[in-house]
Amino acid sequence: MDLGLRGKIAVVCASSEGLGKASALALAKEGAKLVICSRREKSIRETARQIHELTGSEVHAVEADVGKPSDISKVVKEATDKFGTVHILVNNAGGPPTGDIFTLSDEQWQKAHDLTLMSMVRMTREVLPLMIEQKWGRIISITSFVAKQPADELMLSASIRPGILGLSKILSNQYAKDNITINTICPGNIFTKRQEELSKTRASSKQMSVEDFIASQTKNIPAGRYGKPEEIGEIVAFLASERASYISGVNLLVDGGLTKGIH
Ligand SMILES: NC(=O)c1ccc[n+]([C@@H]2O[C@H](COP(=O)([O-])OP(=O)(O)OC[C@H]3O[C@@H](n4cnc5c(N)ncnc54)[C@H](OP(=O)(O)O)[C@@H]3O)[C@@H](O)[C@H]2O)c1
Repeated sequence: MDLGLRGKIAVVCASSEGLGKASALALAKEGAKLVICSRREKSIRETARQIHELTGSEVHAVEADVGKPSDISKVVKEATDKFGTVHILVNNAGGPPTGDIFTLSDEQWQKAHDLTLMSMVRMTREVLPLMIEQKWGRIISITSFVAKQPADELMLSASIRPGILGLSKILSNQYAKDNITINTICPGNIFTKRQEELSKTRASSKQMSVEDFIASQTKNIPAGRYGKPEEIGEIVAFLASERASYISGVNLLVDGGLTKGIH
């Protein structure tokens, strides 16, 4: 199936590793040109080099912290300076820390709010005018299954991410007339560096080995395994594509059946 993404310009946030990188790679494989960003310059440049080598697509790397408003403006400015516009925005950011109501400080709540929700608000505010003008756009935000089914240890994530789902739904209603689709993806447990780190923290809080913790988590996943980053990347590419032109306002679980209930 031709996804119709050849020549489209995509900004993929927080993409030197993990789900962001997998999304960038999947889009580049379909012929999209990319602007990718993360905080560590060396790492984002290396990822740009790898994706270009694998796909031949043009990839521009920007050192940026999506928790900072000025860095968000910088990413969008570099995208428009280099490629003229933005067709596809993939919102993504590092995940907030674990903790509970007594251990998480006001500062951590504020930082998580800025990084998780406000990064999406600010990025979307910058690119939406370009999409309205060209009457074509795709905004896909990577959130988490905990936005639908809270996990006790992931209090910041479970409290703040539902805001992204609400915001996406409102925006999808408002801008469908401009041929802009706005969706979120809610990943389950996907093997990335973050997942490895989280597993270590959660295992130690339960006084378990990481291996036993992962085995206990896997028991709850009907697919019988954790997901792979490319299983998120390929869904991002599909939602960004011409083929998904009538899908908007959806919060798509990609979790091997982990989340219970009818969503
Ligand atoms: N993996 C899972 O199972 C899973 C499940 C549900 C939800 N999620 C969520 O999906 C998101 C991505 O997770 P992941 O597993 O791909 O994480 P990861 O493997 O740790 O990768 C995180 C990426 O984000 C970049 N990054 C982190 N903070 C940033 C910031 N402030 N500004 C710009 N870039 C930043 C990192 O690069 P630099 O260090 O260079 O900045 C890296 O490229 C997180 O919000 C996570 O909570 C993940």
